[in-house]
Amino acid sequence: MITIAIDGHAGAGKSTAARALARALGLVYLDTGAMYRMMGLKALRQGADPGDEAAVLPMLESTRIEVAAEGGEQRFLLDGEDVSSAIRTAECGMAASAVSAIPAVREKLVALQQQIARGANVVMDGRDIGTVVLPNAKYKFFVTASPAVRAQRRYQELVEKGLPAKPVKELEAEIEKRDYDDTHRAHSPLRQAEDAEYIDTTGMSAQEVIDHMLRRVQEGEAGHDQTV
Ligand code: DC
Repeated sequence: MITIAIDGHAGAGKSTAARALARALGLVYLDTGAMYRMMGLKALRQGADPGDEAAVLPMLESTRIEVAAEGGEQRFLLDGEDVSSAIRTAECGMAASAVSAIPAVREKLVALQQQIARGANVVMDGRDIGTVVLPNAKYKFFVTASPAVRAQRRYQELVEKGLPAKPVKELEAEIEKRDYDDTHRAHSPLRQAEDAEYIDTTGMSAQEVIDHMLRRVQEGEAGHDQTV
């Protein structure tokens, strides 16, 4: 059984690494941030303040959050509608961060994530995977990078996807706000699991990060085989 938890700051390269590990090792990949983004999008569409618990709670029961695999890619369905692209905006990222501070939202999404992980070889990325969702994950990584580098990467990503991109400085300010909010919320704040490996990706290419993680897993699995 291989379970990999990748946590860390916004834009640190978690999803790029997770996707590559899933492909290389034949794992199910779950982008948990996308699930919070879906709830954030729902709040925005309903004209609700995503940080207002009283406004978000009534939506929670009736909202259908589904993740479907399609040709090796994940599709994110909000009440049956494919919102895989719509959730990628910076505005949705901020809304996701706000709804993610609401305990009932986290409970619903964590339960869904654990259900997907049950009995499967998975790699998940998020903020609380190694600490809350998969505390027994065999491999845990905590990735970060300087806010300036992360803003630059986000900008590149948005441009490549043809999505509206704000100036890098604005993205950097948003990233710093999101870091602060994600690490200071009362419920399941972003923090490194004690047994997670800390990786600062500031001076690393995406491929270097992937190779490093792959090596760790391959070493772990080789060691495991010898002891069986
Ligand atoms: O990884 P991302 O940028 O798509 O995540 C969007 C927001 O969702 C992030 O700012 C905090 C929240 N989140 C969370 O609280 N827990 C997770 N496991 C994943 C994301």
